[in-house]
Amino acid sequence: MNESKLHDLVRNMTLEEKAAQMSQVVSSFIDDKSGEGKITGPFAGMEVAKEDMSGSGSVLGASGADDLRALQKEYLGKSRLGIPLLFMADVIHGYKTVFPVPLALGCTWDPDAVEESAAIAAKESAAAGLHVTFSPMVDLVRDPRWGRVMETTGEDPYLNGVFARAFVRGYQGDNLENDESKLAACVKHFAAYGAPEGGRDYNTVDMSERQLREYYLPAYEAALDEGAEMVMTAFNTVEGIPATSNKWLMRDLLRKEMGFNGVLISDWGAVQEAIPHGVAADNREAALKAVTAGVDIEMMTPCYVQHLKTLVEEDVVAEELLDEAVLRILQLKNRLGLFENPYRGADSSLEEKLTLSEEHRKAARETAAKSCVLLKNEGALPLKKEQNVALIGPFAESTDLMGPWSIFGSEDDVVTIAAGIGEKLGTRPTVEKGSDIEVVSSQELEVAVEAAKQADVVVMALGEHSEMSGEAGSRTNIKLPEAQLKLAAELKKLGKPLVTVLFNGRPLDLHGVIEESDAVLEAWYPGTEGGHAVADLLFGDTNPSGKLTMSFPDNVGQVPVYYNSFNTGRPKDQIAPEDRFASKYLDAPNEPLFPFGFGLSYTTFTYSGLALSSEIMEENGTIWVSVDVTNTGTAAGEETVQLYVRDLVGEVVRPVKELKGFRKIHLEPGETKQVVFEVDEESLKYHHSDLTCTCDPGDFTLSVGPDSRNTDELRFSYQPRGRQ
Ligand code: BGC
Repeated sequence: MNESKLHDLVRNMTLEEKAAQMSQVVSSFIDDKSGEGKITGPFAGMEVAKEDMSGSGSVLGASGADDLRALQKEYLGKSRLGIPLLFMADVIHGYKTVFPVPLALGCTWDPDAVEESAAIAAKESAAAGLHVTFSPMVDLVRDPRWGRVMETTGEDPYLNGVFARAFVRGYQGDNLENDESKLAACVKHFAAYGAPEGGRDYNTVDMSERQLREYYLPAYEAALDEGAEMVMTAFNTVEGIPATSNKWLMRDLLRKEMGFNGVLISDWGAVQEAIPHGVAADNREAALKAVTAGVDIEMMTPCYVQHLKTLVEEDVVAEELLDEAVLRILQLKNRLGLFENPYRGADSSLEEKLTLSEEHRKAARETAAKSCVLLKNEGALPLKKEQNVALIGPFAESTDLMGPWSIFGSEDDVVTIAAGIGEKLGTRPTVEKGSDIEVVSSQELEVAVEAAKQADVVVMALGEHSEMSGEAGSRTNIKLPEAQLKLAAELKKLGKPLVTVLFNGRPLDLHGVIEESDAVLEAWYPGTEGGHAVADLLFGDTNPSGKLTMSFPDNVGQVPVYYNSFNTGRPKDQIAPEDRFASKYLDAPNEPLFPFGFGLSYTTFTYSGLALSSEIMEENGTIWVSVDVTNTGTAAGEETVQLYVRDLVGEVVRPVKELKGFRKIHLEPGETKQVVFEVDEESLKYHHSDLTCTCDPGDFTLSVGPDSRNTDELRFSYQPRGRQ
């Protein structure tokens, strides 16, 4: 449909039709047949007649080609203007072929693998009739108490930006208009949802605008620059005003400054949540605030449907505000080709063929193996096939490997760890649960200890069940549950090699298991192919290459603890140990247990010959930093070489290190490769006190290494002509 016809359509719509177009509900408001779809938030507040919402312009949570075709048909049959429904859902890390959770995807440091995972998710869900995915979530995170850290790629603005782009490219491709195997991406949650006070979900966010721009906005900017079609608001406050009611945030920053011209949708119920937040007295005021802020679609509460019409009739809201929102929604429907083909992509035979295909499972297996991080290995790994293995723990046979945000994946399709190991050995290993996730009985414990006694090596599969993280999954205790620590302590007493594999959605405080184990593999929630991927790694058929993208605290009391922190005026390492007055804890180290960027391999890599092309960078200039990396072990492996920058004297305080580049390389045993990074002014820029983003003349360090802690550094000076 051409643009002028879209304008005609808007002109022909009644105020009720416009308000309905601007509302989104689960499918049970529209028909009785397609079920409710996936419910991902509270239902309170939807005390509204079903008929009043049945004209809503979009639906969330429903899927399945046949169901969605039927729903579309029924809806269009009743629609005066023939405007098709848009189908949206949370396809976060795979549709039915579930990939590792996003925090794990981050640990691959492999944007191509992430792009491929998103492309596969798009293929499967587009065939199942979906048009939009509520992904990627690009919120920067520093607090593992917050359950939703599993849904992001971690604590670094640069890396989050790289992955934001990869997700958007994977979902949308470069021809969304004509490619029915693609989805529109909705980047979320704008803005700063990843920084709730105390790590408690939905809690207050309060930060300076400089901090917001420096750390939190870059990943949203990257996603938009890559062409993300939609943005979702956040639940939290920004500068004291809930994001969803925040005109400065949405109109001035997102639309005007960042140039976003697509559809802005509220998060679930967030329009109405202006009331409990305390910035609106009732639904009418909540609708007024959100529409004024520029929220195009209200998700799952009825404020728009109930009040937009009268707000316009009473001249409180200009009808143009509704018109511009409706036009954006129609433009998206049009870009997806829905006016010509409202059943876009929905094809049950294709759905059947693609879903969980061998090719998709293979990609999920490879990506899961890349996402696991080897945290410790004192020789217990890799396992040998001739060893007698006892697999013990609540995750040994668990199908809860997909994490809390894989609403379309089925546990029936999950390969368990026991099955994965069994396939490697050609026979089922000894398997005992030993303990539930949170409760252990002395009888279960005894049986497990007896089984372990017979084995050459004990593999413990421990972790958090998926509901312990994810949305509304905040915790103040981020250790493994006591029951499992007890199991670990009992098994440790046997003196056998002890390998721990962890399944969880957040960085944990690993005391109680890290010292006890000879090897620890962080497997996160690895998805449908988890059992295969973990077995590939345990037996060394695949060499671990994942590296953390979020620090593992030594202790929850350090939180937030992240690598790109400030030095402070009293840095511990510059003050004599006998002097009390340093920035430190009396009862814990300052450093996290495992830093950002950390991850081991079955081989070893040595860095040498760090060199700079010049010690002076001129205006608009470039310098190159090079390093030789050698595989000094006996296995082929992949290493992620990381580049960090520090501005030694800034106008505002600069972090001790900031990631500015990385390269993942494959090295055969004995092989050396030179890695060269280009550094230009872009890498030196930061937000000054007046919020401009520029760089200053002066001295910088460039550090290169295998993680954010172990780096070698060199200095250079940036000397733009005529500036001191
Ligand atoms: C979550 C969003 C999600 C939405 C729709 C909300 O509760 O915060 O991330 O996209 O539900 O399911």
